[in-house]
Amino acid sequence: MKPHETLEPDPWHFARPELAEAYLQAFSLKLSSARGLFARRRMGKTEFLRRDLLPAALERGYLVAYTNLWDNRSSPDAALIAALTEAIAPQGVKAVLTKIGKPVRKFKASAKVPGVEGSLETELGSADADSATALRAVLRQLDKQKRSLLLVIDEAQVLARADHGDFAHALRAALDIRKDRIKVIFAGSSETTLREMFARASEPFYNWAALEPFPLLGDEFVAFTIKLMNSMARQRLTLEQGKLAFDELHRTPEFFKRFVERYMLYQPHGNEAALAHTKASVFSDDHFLRQWSELNLADQAVITMLARGETDLHGAAGLARLSAATGKSATKNTAAQALRRLQSQSFVTRLAVGDYRIEDEAFAEWVRRRKKTS
Ligand SMILES: Nc1ncnc2c1ncn2[C@@H]1O[C@H](COP(=O)(O)OP(=O)(O)OP(=O)(O)O)[C@@H](O)[C@H]1O
Ligand SMILES: [Mg+2]
Repeated sequence: MKPHETLEPDPWHFARPELAEAYLQAFSLKLSSARGLFARRRMGKTEFLRRDLLPAALERGYLVAYTNLWDNRSSPDAALIAALTEAIAPQGVKAVLTKIGKPVRKFKASAKVPGVEGSLETELGSADADSATALRAVLRQLDKQKRSLLLVIDEAQVLARADHGDFAHALRAALDIRKDRIKVIFAGSSETTLREMFARASEPFYNWAALEPFPLLGDEFVAFTIKLMNSMARQRLTLEQGKLAFDELHRTPEFFKRFVERYMLYQPHGNEAALAHTKASVFSDDHFLRQWSELNLADQAVITMLARGETDLHGAAGLARLSAATGKSATKNTAAQALRRLQSQSFVTRLAVGDYRIEDEAFAEWVRRRKKTS
């Protein structure tokens, strides 16, 4: 995926040049060569990486590569290699791939790589090298370049899956010896999985990148958006009204933008109606109902308690709740198993011992509303 050229200009984008600068600065001071960023869904990670960080890196003379592994869950190796190849030789993908020598059979059927699909598939068509070999070959091409590379791996938690373990190990080894030249940003919304990737001794990326929360958008973003909106609206909103809506929407930029859109389209109805409509649509999706019905009774009970801020799941009150929900007498183990399942499916993340949080705040809100009505 091309990181920048393919993006249409977006007047509603709230630029964060200082944040981009801070990351690049840390790289150039050699404070770190890899960082892991996490934030809940729809908080603006991808938008920042593609619209702020990568263009800033390009301006600084970096080669840049971006890949979103969630779009390529079945073949993250092919996606990564394609992104690297694109970065090195945007015009000459074919030439680079010819130099790779042995093509990669594995990629033929599964590689869905936007932009370079056709050429990559043909080039990697028939013979029998594996993805680790192809990766090393691409990086050897990179070694001949003078410029440093910024590699952004979005939804990096895909690499934590066991079936991608070999490739992840190869990636770590290849990047490890190029720390000076290749800077890497891992981003993802599953904090639990990212933590496992970087904190578990048995994992390929153990201790490799510092994992930190992605700084969230706040009042400045609201002020920017409201000001732009007011320049087009007939009935202006105050900053206070904007901030209130942002809070009510759990400070989620995507939902706030939907509120602004709704308000613009139905101005005579006023901002309260727009907010009510937005809340109803983002916090009560069919999608949530489907997720919910796939959970078993114990998991549903645990998620409900977490959504209400009840953290003592293993205490007497919590276990009584669990027993009532499942119709069986619950033990501490019942709660622990439910928590483990919920974490492995990325519903819930563990912040510290005994401190759990629902990853998708919109889902948490849906769960809370659901209980009120039933
Ligand atoms: N800097 C920004 N300026 C304006 N709008 C933004 C900004 N960042 C995010 N948004 C809005 O929020 C939406 C979600 O952002 P984005 O897709 O970057 O979130 P994310 O954290 O990558 O979410 P996910 O984990 O689901 O991939 C965007 O489509 C956009 O509408
Ligand atoms: Mg994203």
